[in-house]
Amino acid sequence: MKQKILTVENLCFSFNKDKQILNNINFSIEQGSLCIIAGANGSGKSVLLKCIKGLLKPKEGLIKINNIDVSKDINERRKKIGLVFQDADSQIVGQTVEKDILFGLENIKIEKCEKIERLNKVSKLLSLEEKLKTKPRELSGGEKRRLAIAGILAMDPNIIFLDEPFANLDYPGVVKVIKTLLLLQKEGHTIIIVSHEIDKIAAHSQKIILLKNGRVLKEGNSEEMLPHLRENGVYVPTVNNEIANIEELSWLNR
Ligand SMILES: Nc1ncnc2c1ncn2[C@@H]1O[C@H](COP(=O)(O)OP(=O)(O)OP(=O)(O)O)[C@@H](O)[C@H]1O
Ligand SMILES: [Mg+2]
Repeated sequence: MKQKILTVENLCFSFNKDKQILNNINFSIEQGSLCIIAGANGSGKSVLLKCIKGLLKPKEGLIKINNIDVSKDINERRKKIGLVFQDADSQIVGQTVEKDILFGLENIKIEKCEKIERLNKVSKLLSLEEKLKTKPRELSGGEKRRLAIAGILAMDPNIIFLDEPFANLDYPGVVKVIKTLLLLQKEGHTIIIVSHEIDKIAAHSQKIILLKNGRVLKEGNSEEMLPHLRENGVYVPTVNNEIANIEELSWLNR
């Protein structure tokens, strides 16, 4: 059995006393896997990622990385976990695409040539080479999303969270992001995706965790989970009214 890179135990979160947003969340993720967190609007997906990353403070619960409790160690979580936000705009800070990708690297001690190497690698991966001198506000929605992903990848986090990474992307953009994620997985990164667009990535994921009203309703591999997703308001494509075969779903086979 593969090692668990991330374990969440009894995680609870609320913004105020009246409403519990996350309720006793438990799950674990294997090293090097690609996992999807699914659930209806407001089920708690984005809040969950922010709690694990350390941007929101859980009321209760443990977060372990490689079996070490890092619940109190926000620095360790910030270093090991990269989060690409649902709203790409809120993440972009640099004056140009190049400066934005380099921004996160300013605070970590690495050689200048390594910085340039990483800049070249991620801009090539996400097809931003031609845009390096462009101002982010002049990018299209899809290009901004690719920039937000590039900025996080440049930091080389062990675990990469992506909140709705396919929003705003056209067909080639979706395929590019899927291929990039699979390449990163091959390099050993662990990837956790929050998405409503399950059809785009389910064929490539090892686990789907379904949230409902701030609880884990069910988890399992894609095949087991597709019928449950449909029952719970997550769109799953059908062929002749039957849920599509998992392999047929892959956007890379079209
Ligand atoms: N800053 C906030 N203050 C108060 N309540 C919030 C805040 N952010 C989110 N919530 C509430 O927390 C719950 C979970 O929100 P969350 O953003 O995690 O949903 P989600 O599953 O990511 O939904 P979506 O699919 O729409 O992105 C919602 O009921 C939402 O209204
Ligand atoms: Mg969300």
